[in-house]
Amino acid sequence: MKMWAGRFREPLDAEFARWQRSFPFDRRLLPQEVAASAAYAEAIFAAGVLTAAEVAQIVDALAAILTQSVASPQFLEDDDAEDVHHFVEKNLVALIGDVGYKLHTGRSRNEQIATDLRLFVRESIDQLIAQIAELGSVLLARAESAGLAAMPAYTHLQRAEPVLVAHWLLAYFEMFLRDAERLADCRKRVNLCPLGSGAIAGSTIQLDRAALAQALAFDGPTANSMDATADRDFALEFVNALSLLALHVSRWAEEMILFSTQEFALVDPPEEYSTGSSAMPQKKNPDLLELARAKSARVLGCATALQVATKGLPLAYNKDLQDTQQPLFEAADTLLTLLPLVAQWIAKVQFLHERMQFAAQDGFLNAFAAATYLSSRGVPFRLAHECIGRAVQLALEKGCLLDGLSLAELQSIHPAFEAGESGFFAALKLEPVLQYHDNSGGTAPAQVKQALAKARQRLGAVQAG
Ligand code: ARG
Repeated sequence: MKMWAGRFREPLDAEFARWQRSFPFDRRLLPQEVAASAAYAEAIFAAGVLTAAEVAQIVDALAAILTQSVASPQFLEDDDAEDVHHFVEKNLVALIGDVGYKLHTGRSRNEQIATDLRLFVRESIDQLIAQIAELGSVLLARAESAGLAAMPAYTHLQRAEPVLVAHWLLAYFEMFLRDAERLADCRKRVNLCPLGSGAIAGSTIQLDRAALAQALAFDGPTANSMDATADRDFALEFVNALSLLALHVSRWAEEMILFSTQEFALVDPPEEYSTGSSAMPQKKNPDLLELARAKSARVLGCATALQVATKGLPLAYNKDLQDTQQPLFEAADTLLTLLPLVAQWIAKVQFLHERMQFAAQDGFLNAFAAATYLSSRGVPFRLAHECIGRAVQLALEKGCLLDGLSLAELQSIHPAFEAGESGFFAALKLEPVLQYHDNSGGTAPAQVKQALAKARQRLGAVQAG
């Protein structure tokens, strides 16, 4: 029996009926629907709507429906069920007769779907935070074991300055930690219970909404029935947080694609996550990275779809909201399947340390430090910059690096250049160049050591929830 057929004379057009159903995609909400329905049954029993025998019958039948869905996936192949709410009601009635219809007393699918989706988003957030913590822990482990290894860092994709490999990995750690924090913050607004909002104006039953919320581990009930049934902010916030997370994955993937080219040759992607070419025998293609970049685009698309679908909706429930489920699921699924692969790739990628170390000392990456050397000898930085610029130009003409210039050549540019232990040539070496950046957030080894220790603590806090 349909949930609403009473006032209709004509049956639905068959094609329209099929087309408007949400069961093909909302059936994945069955566990949430069953949990919320069992809690609701207890709440209306407490309010005197059901007898003790009826509530027991309903709760048992709900559990049986869930068990059967797990035992036989065929059970969910139901062409008649309009949505997950209808499916549960149909099967309740099949199991226990008309008592099954009593569960819908004072209830609307509008509050049910809002509740189911909040439960879904809450679970997804918890899983994703755990996955991000795992990813963070892999990044941190690799950073900790990188020791004093250095690499070139880029601005404008041009070699800029050397940094510690650990410092570079910690940059990604920061991005992903922000994502975990954003999701944890979003969870606060997700974790409120719409049940008891009715279709739009609130429940007609004296429900204990606080107890109902508590039974489903929500922090409390939602405050306004019109908002609660119309609101999908929690889904939008979630998917927007995911779009930033996906964007971080995409930026990382792009950098790894570049770093694994023969031109950069700073990392060697793990074979387990690369493929060959059917035409060119020499190829090892970074497929995981490329697909990660593409899948991130889809998540951004999901966030856009949700925003555009909701932006024109007057209060309260509109059927458009049914169509926000798929982008929500797609965004969650995309990241839930992607993040573990990213973590494994990072765990297994080989850093080409020799090449990194060489590149960190090649190509004038010490020019900024060289200018700092001159300014520490009293030359105003702007002028020091100019002098080192001229020294770079001279070295380029000669086909050498800064340390290939003679003291006489340098002093012809500025008399402040000196040789010796604390002189210019000593200052050009990798160690002092890194050491120059000895302030919090910088790449000097002592700073990075502290940053690693702090990162451990912060990761512990995320893992502890
Ligand atoms: N399947 C619907 C959805 O996902 C359930 C709510 C239906 N409410 C209604 N008033 N027709 O939005």
